[in-house]
Amino acid sequence: MNTIQPPFMRQTVMDLEESRIREVANAGMGRPDVLAFWFGESDEVTPAVVRQAAIDSLQKGETFYAHNLGLPELRQAVSDYMSALHGPIGVDRLAITSGGVNALMLAAQALVDAGDEAVAVTPVWPNLTAQALVMGAHLKRVSLRPVDGQWQLDMAALKAAITPATRLLIVNSPNNPTGWTLSRAEQAEILAHCRQTGTWVLADEVYERLYYETDTFNGCAPSFLDVAEPDDRLVVVHSFSKSFLMTGWRLGWLVMPAAMTPHIRLLKYPIRERNFAPHGFDFFDFPFAF
Ligand SMILES: Cc1ncc(COP(=O)(O)O)c(C=O)c1O
Repeated sequence: MNTIQPPFMRQTVMDLEESRIREVANAGMGRPDVLAFWFGESDEVTPAVVRQAAIDSLQKGETFYAHNLGLPELRQAVSDYMSALHGPIGVDRLAITSGGVNALMLAAQALVDAGDEAVAVTPVWPNLTAQALVMGAHLKRVSLRPVDGQWQLDMAALKAAITPATRLLIVNSPNNPTGWTLSRAEQAEILAHCRQTGTWVLADEVYERLYYETDTFNGCAPSFLDVAEPDDRLVVVHSFSKSFLMTGWRLGWLVMPAAMTPHIRLLKYPIRERNFAPHGFDFFDFPFAF
């Protein structure tokens, strides 16, 4: 007889709340008369070239465990892509992950101990803060404020919140749900402050290509990578979900200082990323349409 009674898990896990986004999605999914605005995803399927590459890969029997950090060819392709956008990002700074969420969890596991303090710029997509909370972080929130119809960051308030006691800053720009985007000058100012306090920056930049200012390279939003040194305490989370229209595939990546990569290799498990990247198409040749 099973005598285990609840609560039988860590209290932090028992306290997790159902996301309202999921609630709305569950109520609307499968209803043809409802427009699906609940998740950040396209209403178009993944481009045919990617689907075909995956079919070819499966037909070839590429179904085995792969390297912990990801297929070398895919890491190289991501390195080339990131380097074209942000300047040199070597493969030694990259890990392929099972989507952005897994990348966030790996970062939280690697950086946050129970009792550590984390600061988050909010409002933000709830999973971003949930990862640190699951690891036992104390979370301080610094809220964006609407000013003349625009969301704005109170830089002084953010800097006051990040002290030498702060282990991690969590920031998502371009932001889900507000669309607020950090300028490069703001990123440089935040990074300079975090260097002084010894705080890690966890930047979720999965929406960087869904940015509609015209004066930017390839429509890419400003990134912490543009203002950081390779060995800064900066971890950037990325995903194929949004700009490559691949939400269901669960494929993303982490950019980190090279010294961190061997440790992430031990923390993470091998995944067989669908072997599409080496099949010779250009990462920039995509319909970045939402
Ligand atoms: C800000 C942000 N980061 C990460 C993700 C998750 O990305 P993935 O599908 O790769 O797990 C989402 C999904 O909505 C998101 O909005």
